[in-house]
Amino acid sequence: MNFDIFGKCFNFKAATELKKIGFYPYFHKVESVQGPEIIVDGKKKIVVCSNNYLGLANHPKVIEASITAAKKYGTSCTGSRFLNGTNDLHEKVEKKFAKFVGKEEALLFTTGHHSNLGAISSLVGKNEVLITDRLDHASIIDGCRLSFGEMARFRHNDMADLERQLIKYQGRGMLIVVDGVFSMEGDIANLPEISRLAKKYEARVFVDEAHSLGVIGENGKGTGEYFNMEEDIDVLMATASKSLASIGGFIASKSEVIDFIKHSARTMIFTASLPPACVGAIDAALDLVIAEPERRTRLIETSKKMRSAFKSMGYNTGHSQSPIIPLTVGSDFSAFKMWKMLFDEGIFASPVVTPAVPEGNSIVRTSYMATHSDDNLNFILEKFKKVGKQLGILG
Ligand SMILES: Cc1ncc(COP(=O)(O)O)c(C=O)c1O
Repeated sequence: MNFDIFGKCFNFKAATELKKIGFYPYFHKVESVQGPEIIVDGKKKIVVCSNNYLGLANHPKVIEASITAAKKYGTSCTGSRFLNGTNDLHEKVEKKFAKFVGKEEALLFTTGHHSNLGAISSLVGKNEVLITDRLDHASIIDGCRLSFGEMARFRHNDMADLERQLIKYQGRGMLIVVDGVFSMEGDIANLPEISRLAKKYEARVFVDEAHSLGVIGENGKGTGEYFNMEEDIDVLMATASKSLASIGGFIASKSEVIDFIKHSARTMIFTASLPPACVGAIDAALDLVIAEPERRTRLIETSKKMRSAFKSMGYNTGHSQSPIIPLTVGSDFSAFKMWKMLFDEGIFASPVVTPAVPEGNSIVRTSYMATHSDDNLNFILEKFKKVGKQLGILG
C-alpha cells in the first residue's frame, strides 16, 4: 500500500534514533512544581528553559486562588464561552486585564495559541493582507492559514522590507503582526518604526506580548509601555501561560473590535472555555504582577548579568534584550549533544533546531526567572562554560 497515509509514520525515525544514542531532549517527565529547581526523571535539575518569568507558577496566592475557583465553580465550564461556558470570573479577569494594558476591552480564550488563531483569522478577511515578521510565532502563521486573507512576510525586524510589503499591498486592508519579544531570539520588535509605517500606509498593528507581558515596560505592560507608545498597538495579545502562571490567552483592543472577534473567532465559539482553576490563577497572578514589581527588577538584572557573562565567555547571544538568551551552537547534532551534556551536569535546557532555525544555526535557548538564586545562576554559568569548552564552541 504505497498510498497508505500511515507510510510517513512508519518511516519517521528521527526521534527513535536520537533516543538510541541518549540525545532525545523532548517529553521528559517533570516530577515537581515548576520552579528554578525541578526533578526530571528522578534527578534534580536547574531549569534554563522555563517561561515562568516571574516565578508565580508555584506562588501560594496563585495556588490558593486556583483552588478557591475550582471549589466555587467546579472543574470545568463544560461548554463554549459563547453558550454556557462564561462565568463571572472570566469577565472579572477580562476587565482586570483590559485595565492593566490600557485597552477598552479584553477577551479571554482557552490558550494563547487559540487567541492568535481566532483573532487573526477573524480580522484578516478575503482580499485583506496579514503582514508578519519571518520569525513570528507559529500560532500567528496558523492564524493566517485559517483566515481567508493573504499572507506576506518581511525579514526579521527589517523595517525597509516591511515598507516594501506595505507599498506592495497598499490600498488593501493590512494587519501587521509581530511578537513583542521574539520567543527564540529574545529581541524586541521595532515598534516605533512599525507604528510609523503602519500610520503612513494605513495598516493596523497587532502585537503578541506572550514573552513581554510582566517582563518589559516599567509596570510589566509589555512592548507598548517599553517604548512609551501603548496607544500605537491596535490589538494586543498576551498568553497566560508564561508570566501569568496559568494557561489561557487574551486579546485586548477597542470595544467594537473585541465584540467582532467575540462573535466570529472559531476558537472562541467552537471550543470549551478556560476552566475556573486556571482563571482563578490568572486573577491572582495579575494582582502579583502589579503588586510585586521587585520580581521584574530581579528578572531584568538577572538577564543582564547572564547575557554579559555568556558574551564574555565567548558565546554568541544574538540580539537578545530580554530574559530569553539564545546561545548559538551550530549543527542540530551539536545542539542535541550539548543538551545531553548539560543534562548530565544537572541543567535542563532547550535545544532549538531546524526547521525552527536556519540550517547550521541551531541554538540552545536559555531563559530566566525572577526566582533563580545567585547560586543557581552561577551554577548555570559554570556548566555552560565547561560544556562549551568540551564541545569546542568556546575557545
Ligand atoms: C510568541 C508566542 N505566542 C503565542 C504562544 C502560544 O501561547 P500558549 O502556549 O499559551 O498557547 C506562544 C507559546 O509558546 C508564544 O511563544
